[in-house]
Amino acid sequence: MENGAARPAPAVIVAIDGPSGTGKSSTSKAVAAKLGLSYLDTGAQYRAITWWMVTNDIDITDPTAIAAVAGKPEIISGTDPSAPAITVDGTDVAGPIRTQEVTSKVSAVSAVPEVRTRITELQRSIAAAAELGIVVEGRDIGTTVLPDADLKIFLTASPEARASRRSGELKGADVNSTREALLKRDAADSSRKTSPLAKADDAVEVDTSDLTLQQVIECVVTLVEEKRAAK
Ligand code: DC
Repeated sequence: MENGAARPAPAVIVAIDGPSGTGKSSTSKAVAAKLGLSYLDTGAQYRAITWWMVTNDIDITDPTAIAAVAGKPEIISGTDPSAPAITVDGTDVAGPIRTQEVTSKVSAVSAVPEVRTRITELQRSIAAAAELGIVVEGRDIGTTVLPDADLKIFLTASPEARASRRSGELKGADVNSTREALLKRDAADSSRKTSPLAKADDAVEVDTSDLTLQQVIECVVTLVEEKRAAK
């Protein structure tokens, strides 16, 4: 490199895990946008494969039926944090994957090992192709998908804080029923046999209950910048 030329920032892989309603998506997108990194929403991929199962009348109570077709849908995820996109067999499913029906079925589909193997491979190839680095959000990124990530963050928040955020996102849905649905999904995601929702031993835990989104973003940006400086 010539004297005085600006050195490009080293590529950095950031894994952000945690249960729903902790601010994972908003934080991950904002951090990626601020630092010029790619962004991957792995929950959207599990939602997309669930949407395909529902649309194709696959019995989601039957793991063998799910496993038999797990390789069929082609899922393509965009990695631009300012315009996250996802298609299944060429159809834009960004809206349909957020329906109540998909949300209530995604834990069952994502617990099937063949689904996880397939989606994990996809996630690793997307991360490997991100030249400037990537923020990957999910449940098992630091433990299973990218165990060698440069930085692992585990976001937590009280059930009350999570339910009130989620019901706000769902345009005023009842907080109590939102809380129940959210805890039920977390329990399923945490207790499944294959790569459950879990904090990696070397993850930094950030409790977001009493923090504003801006404070969480600043905290994570600082941690990423420290890692980049040390590379
Ligand atoms: O982040 P989300 O709520 O959109 O995720 C939807 C579901 O996908 C979540 O209930 C569990 C599953 N999921 C997973 O099993 N592993 C991931 N890395 C991300 C999500």
